[in-house]
Amino acid sequence: MSLVRFYTGDSIPLELHKVRIVQKLDLVPVEQRARAMAEAGYNTFLLKNKDIYLDMLTDSGVNAMSDRQLAAMMIADDSYAGSATFTRLTDRLEEIFGTKYFLPAHQGRAAENILAMTFVKPGSVIPMNYHFTTTKAHITRLGGRVEELICDEGVKLTSSCPFKGNFDLEKLEELFRKEGGNIPFVRIEAGTNLIGGQPLSLENMLAVADIVHRHGSLVVMDASLLQDNLYFIKTREEMARDMTIRQITRMIADRMDIIYFSARKLGFARGGGICMHDKALFSKMRELVPMFEGFLTYGGMSVREMEAMTVGLEETMDPDVISQGPLFIQYMTDELIRLGVPVVTPPGGLGCHLDASRFIPQVRQEEYPAAALAAALFIAGGIRGMERGTVSEQREADGSEHLAAVELLRLALPRRVFTLSQVKYAVDRIKWLYDNRQLIGGLRFTDEPSSLRFFFGLLEPVSPWPESLVRAFRRDFGDSL
Ligand SMILES: Cc1ncc(COP(=O)(O)O)c(C=O)c1O
Repeated sequence: MSLVRFYTGDSIPLELHKVRIVQKLDLVPVEQRARAMAEAGYNTFLLKNKDIYLDMLTDSGVNAMSDRQLAAMMIADDSYAGSATFTRLTDRLEEIFGTKYFLPAHQGRAAENILAMTFVKPGSVIPMNYHFTTTKAHITRLGGRVEELICDEGVKLTSSCPFKGNFDLEKLEELFRKEGGNIPFVRIEAGTNLIGGQPLSLENMLAVADIVHRHGSLVVMDASLLQDNLYFIKTREEMARDMTIRQITRMIADRMDIIYFSARKLGFARGGGICMHDKALFSKMRELVPMFEGFLTYGGMSVREMEAMTVGLEETMDPDVISQGPLFIQYMTDELIRLGVPVVTPPGGLGCHLDASRFIPQVRQEEYPAAALAAALFIAGGIRGMERGTVSEQREADGSEHLAAVELLRLALPRRVFTLSQVKYAVDRIKWLYDNRQLIGGLRFTDEPSSLRFFFGLLEPVSPWPESLVRAFRRDFGDSL
């Protein structure tokens, strides 16, 4: 990881890549942004790209690809069965993870579906450091239950704990004592998405694997955000200081029974899959792949994407590649802290996370502060973030609201996509919004789906606060965009 010092003392991340393909962006006037937000039912998932300036919704499938990835896509070997492309991909996975078997799937949640259908039945308990939306939906759909065993620091939004994604090991032991027979596997989520892209330590991962194996269960890693987690292990953990990224990866993989991932994140492409060491596990899941995904040598992915993934996985072993995201996120987080804006600390991977509960304390959780802040930031700057709070939860079986442990607005930084001046623009508009935060009000559902409501639910403001925000913007920025 090359740390480049500036003679003038500036502390900014320096890109170790150059941009050779660009996409034109538009920044539409604030009135149009407010209209677009209303038309999208105050749900940033339903906005149209033509109205968006900085798309910070997610890093999923929108990371910049390298010249080597694009070149590899040109030599893809297209065939239904037995393509050389698939062999190249499985060879690369074996080289990196040491896993002999691989089942392809069209994306991460498809891998989760296969895992859940194989292992989860009514009454199953699946412990994990923290849930992810699609993971939980697959488990509960089949009558299973998720148990979150995150360490206490994990849900503290401001902390100096370097590994907030760690499991509480005592809680894990305790759960095995109570529910042992009902636990088909324990899921470790690297780079814990919903609590701000926070990593687990290598030590904690290994300790979890020991406990799980002692109790005769399986340990499954969701490696979708492993690349950021690897960077944090390398830079924050004493025991890994002298290890290479490849060595750290291998030490982790050797202790997992199953590793699954979304290649929309890991590997800078689109796709996913499940890796394992054991043939019996492979055989147990195998028939679900042709049934739901596609034949065993493509699993719903295009061969071009598989070639890009093969190269992307190799690039993930390069510290200069995987440091870019975390370093930009750290820069953005540090700037917002300097300006007094409440953010999640320490900075994690994936994106910068605004703490909506402290940003707009006047909005009650029942009126969805994180979703309201997402709408307000889009109006203020054409910046699309993602609600990670109560709207992303599911109602309880009795219909009551399940209030999220944290109300966050995630501003993802897809890897190698934005420039530093764009990040500075985002910081500027967030600061303006913070200074005008008393104008922001809550939201309520007008159309609420019973599952995964954050994807397609429609909301409306509880008062005409978006209009007040537009007026304040015009007052302060004149005819500027
Ligand atoms: C930790 C984690 N697991 C699983 C998934 C699902 O992957 P996909 O979006 O490819 O279905 C995601 C996607 O964001 C994720 O972050």
